[in-house]
Amino acid sequence: MRPVPTPIPIRKAMRGTDIPPFYASQVGARAHRLRRAGRSVIGMHFGQPTEPPPPGVHAAAHRAIEDGPTGYYESPELRARIARHYLDAYGLHVASSRILLTLGASAGLVATFTTLFASGDRVGVVRPGYPAYRNALRALGREPVEIDCGPERGFRLGAEQVAGVPGELHGLVVASPGNPTGAMLSRAALAEVAGACRARGTQLVSDEIYHGISFTGPATCALEVEPQAIVINSFSKLYRMPGWRLGWIVVPEAAVERFGAQLINLFLTPSTLSQEAAIAAFDDRGSLQAAVAGYARNRATLLAALPTMGLRGLVPPDGAFYLYADVGHLTDDSLAFCHELLEDTGIAIAPGIDFDPRRGQRFVRLSFAVSEAEVDEAIARLRPWLARREAARRSS
Ligand SMILES: Cc1ncc(COP(=O)(O)O)c(C=O)c1O
Repeated sequence: MRPVPTPIPIRKAMRGTDIPPFYASQVGARAHRLRRAGRSVIGMHFGQPTEPPPPGVHAAAHRAIEDGPTGYYESPELRARIARHYLDAYGLHVASSRILLTLGASAGLVATFTTLFASGDRVGVVRPGYPAYRNALRALGREPVEIDCGPERGFRLGAEQVAGVPGELHGLVVASPGNPTGAMLSRAALAEVAGACRARGTQLVSDEIYHGISFTGPATCALEVEPQAIVINSFSKLYRMPGWRLGWIVVPEAAVERFGAQLINLFLTPSTLSQEAAIAAFDDRGSLQAAVAGYARNRATLLAALPTMGLRGLVPPDGAFYLYADVGHLTDDSLAFCHELLEDTGIAIAPGIDFDPRRGQRFVRLSFAVSEAEVDEAIARLRPWLARREAARRSS
């Protein structure tokens, strides 16, 4: 009998970059266990709408199950429908050939990072910001360059900051509205950022996943101010289809082939069923608007209530469905704070360390893409809990 070779211990074999998890998902796992044990849990930790997608989506999915395509597939109808969306929403003529379908914005980000940037390239990301920008760039061997955009500047990136980044800057990722703050750049500010990128030869990447969910006016598409921008979007937020894993990117005509080659090698095609269903997502304006109106009410309720519980200095979000709150007077460990809150009250929220490795220990993010009744209940549970925390702090 041949001797069986000794396997390399897995710890030694894992030579890829070690990146952090989403700490919010650790809170989420605990919340799930509590719920299964019969506790009443209010899930405000993940950025996902709790309402189902517009009804037409389910109807289209049922039809697709009956007689839709089942192979690897990219729906020309969906690409055409997305192209029409650019005309309807922004007055932009975008050829459907420039629209590539992805497995959510996540895959759009990966394909963008691998297509545009070489190993070691430096890509600007806003801090606080969506953790996967920083972590995916690092996993792919690109270097995230964090640009600090704290509450003192309303969490908004400025063109002068882009211009001031020392060294080379091959790319810049912006999200307006952004996660976790909901901060949005005005059209003029986005144009200035795009101009600063152009001036120093930086490729602009715009993550527009929260477009359509804004409270202070519509968001500007980066293509309105920079025709060469790469735009990333998804059905996960406004269209309430996070589990359907479908998104898209818009790339310049000259880049379509290179992006397409990356996408097919990395991911083949997105789910056929999701593509067929998503065509219906755009047309139920009533359902989409009703959800955004609900978020607006939740936002107003929270902005009125939280300062009365000692959470001051909140920056009202322009869009998305998050509040990023400073709890630095109560903790210097945002993950422990979230776990304690969950254990004591059943409210699950996300720790700031997911979004900001520097200052995140003093922040938490609440998602208000939940029902209005849940927001009311969360406030009722939060008030006495925060009061107790505050009293304990004073007496210590
Ligand atoms: C700013 C931002 N970009 C991208 C994503 C990824 O979204 P998905 O892959 O579900 O489309 C998220 C998810 O929360 C996000 O907040």
